[in-house]
Amino acid sequence: MHYQWYPGHMMKAKRMMQENIKLIDLIIELLDARVPYASGNPDISELGKNKSRLIILNKADLADETVNDAWVKHYMEQGLSAVLIDARSGKGMKSVEDCIALVCRDKIERDRKRGILNRPIRAMVVGIPNVGKSTFINSLAGKACAKTGNKPGVTKGKQWIRLNKNIELLDTPGLLWPKFEDQTVGEHLAMVGSINDEILDTEEMAVALIAKLRSGYAEAIAKRFGVDENGNAYDVLQRIARKRGCLKKGDEPDTNKASRILLDEFRSGRIGRISLERP
Ligand code: G4P
Repeated sequence: MHYQWYPGHMMKAKRMMQENIKLIDLIIELLDARVPYASGNPDISELGKNKSRLIILNKADLADETVNDAWVKHYMEQGLSAVLIDARSGKGMKSVEDCIALVCRDKIERDRKRGILNRPIRAMVVGIPNVGKSTFINSLAGKACAKTGNKPGVTKGKQWIRLNKNIELLDTPGLLWPKFEDQTVGEHLAMVGSINDEILDTEEMAVALIAKLRSGYAEAIAKRFGVDENGNAYDVLQRIARKRGCLKKGDEPDTNKASRILLDEFRSGRIGRISLERP
């Protein structure tokens, strides 16, 4: 599902977040490991102040392993816990549960001192569209037990998924909006496929991607498409078109079609494990 963020939509999402955040102890913030900066929400620190926070770098299977590790280190240096996962295959999910327990250790201890025992930690998954929130919740809840249903007075109609005796998860994720003011952010989100393609110029995006891959991933295009990747990025796109038999009348390269192929293969990881942002 894709979203276009009009001010009204953003206000509504923000209101929902503010309402739900009151009910929880822990924010599980999903980021796209390929673009952790661009997929972050500018207001989450403010919205979630006084709450525990766990950062999940999802789609780690599509991102560069060295860069993944650098991001985890980067968050750790800021005093935040971060876990690398692939929610689709379930890789890394075990560490998520361990980390939730760790992040909430203080809370459990505080509760214990005040004589509150066995009160589960309540968590909510948040993130921008397409970052993998539903996949993550399904993966986490798949092996868990049934929903806990409505608890009068406490949850007011919210559905909680009991993951184990210590953790309950709100079954609907919190939808966050991306940063709008930064053009690079928009470009990166578009490249990984988190912004509706219909409102973007595919060819422009493909050319930008070719140029971008030159730093850090020289040879990636040459290897995948068997073309010379030197020179002007648009020329490279034309070569890709020819190589893949995307031709228009008069033997002209169909760069639009080639752009869609390039983006599709990039997004699915067929060009390689590539991170567009480094800490
Ligand atoms: P959302 O709720 O945050 O909007 O995201 P959602 O779970 O719907 O996931 C968006 C897309 O990302 C889905 O692909 C999903 O399969 C994929 N995805 C989620 N987590 C991972 C991951 O860790 N690794 C990879 N490689 N992909 C992931 P889709 O193409 O929209 O759907 P489908 O083809 O998988 O059905």
